[in-house]
Amino acid sequence: MSTSRAAWSPTSWRALPAGQQPSWPDEGALESALKQIGSYPPLVFAGEARSLQTALGHVAAGNAFLLQAGDCAESFEEFSADNIREKLRVILQMAVVLTYSMGVPVVKVGRMAGQFAKPRSSPTEKIGDLELPSFRGHIVNNELPTAAARVPDPDRLVQAYHQSASTLNLLRAFTKGGFAALDRVHAWNQEFLASSSEGQRYMQVADEIERAVQFMRACGMDTESNPNLREVDVYTSHEALILGYEEALTRRDSLTGNWYDCSAHMLWIGERTRELDGAHVEFLRGVGNPIGCKIGPSTSADDAISLCEALNPSRIPGRLTLISRMGADQVESKLRPLLRAVTDSGHPVVWACDPMHGNTYTAPSGRKTRHFDAITNEIEGFVRAHRTEGTWPGGIHVELTGENVTECLGGADALSDADLDHRYETVCDPRLNGRQGLELAFRTAELVRSSPAN
Ligand code: PEP
Ligand code: CO
Repeated sequence: MSTSRAAWSPTSWRALPAGQQPSWPDEGALESALKQIGSYPPLVFAGEARSLQTALGHVAAGNAFLLQAGDCAESFEEFSADNIREKLRVILQMAVVLTYSMGVPVVKVGRMAGQFAKPRSSPTEKIGDLELPSFRGHIVNNELPTAAARVPDPDRLVQAYHQSASTLNLLRAFTKGGFAALDRVHAWNQEFLASSSEGQRYMQVADEIERAVQFMRACGMDTESNPNLREVDVYTSHEALILGYEEALTRRDSLTGNWYDCSAHMLWIGERTRELDGAHVEFLRGVGNPIGCKIGPSTSADDAISLCEALNPSRIPGRLTLISRMGADQVESKLRPLLRAVTDSGHPVVWACDPMHGNTYTAPSGRKTRHFDAITNEIEGFVRAHRTEGTWPGGIHVELTGENVTECLGGADALSDADLDHRYETVCDPRLNGRQGLELAFRTAELVRSSPAN
């Protein structure tokens, strides 16, 4: 296996083939943008990344559950306090449902504050008669269908840094400043949700939690100042795709002397860039953050073990999360051999299910969509595979928004193809709306609860 890897440095990835990198038209402008970002403060602190790794270690051991959720691609245009708050609100609601129903801690990680870059299946796309460079996320170019909009612009790297900093600042304020306090659990229910059946179901959970908090208070516990009840940890994550940007935010931790990619707490490698001898694996193997790697249906047992060896040679629990995205029809048959092989190899991993990316298709209207049933079916198959192999279905990785969008079909509102045009707002993949997200949390909790832990 890859024991012969050369010494790592934040720039060692540059000697290897890097997939999915934009063709920046002006190298000088790129270098000066990266230099600028390199001089900016880190967005996260290495100690926070270590805390997340410890929490994920509990997931790897079967004692906690991972909820990783947020936009497919954050947008420079849809950037507002409301947008961030609504997304956080759904994540908190889903986490409450999962924690309450499953009785284990839920590790909350947003696809937020840096999730801008998108890998594409083709470098160009055809719009009408025009052949245009593909949209690669707002950190690179703009989705408008003109040649000018699609030119990669290095100033966008700097703007992505600033938007990440503002988003993270608000997340910290909300999660540490009282918004996330458990005695506000009722207030997280959004208006459009309150009247729905999931909203009602959520209110029952909230009532029970409120009674439990009152009970603790009556027993003399100080629920007002206990940080466990007043604050939550919501970590940030994104796909580490544009390696120049990630390198510019990679800093040596003064406490341990180790390198951390301080653009987010957790970084993941996408399905299209997980080549063992490629630049993305090379870059991420050397940073101390917890790392994710997407694994699609073409992943062999040997591939999975080689990724573990490359990304977590010291076998640290919580260091590596394998995020499977097989598609509902294939998940059980494709995942089981991987679970068995990785378990036999002794590598501790968090197994998470991305039920979104293997179930995307184009509706007759031409909109990219996903059906809620396929999404829940993939989670069901994922849980069943774990039950059969005696491993822990450690978490879910989903694309959602707090807004009442109409991008994914089905769910309790039974959204149909005809509804897609109503509020289709994503700049990339279709996201669950708040109601579908909450429904998914209830469904996931039921599925995992009925599955015996290892
Ligand atoms: C994504 O998470 O948005 C994504 C592109 O996923 P994948 O790499 O699994 O296709
Ligand atoms: Co996506």
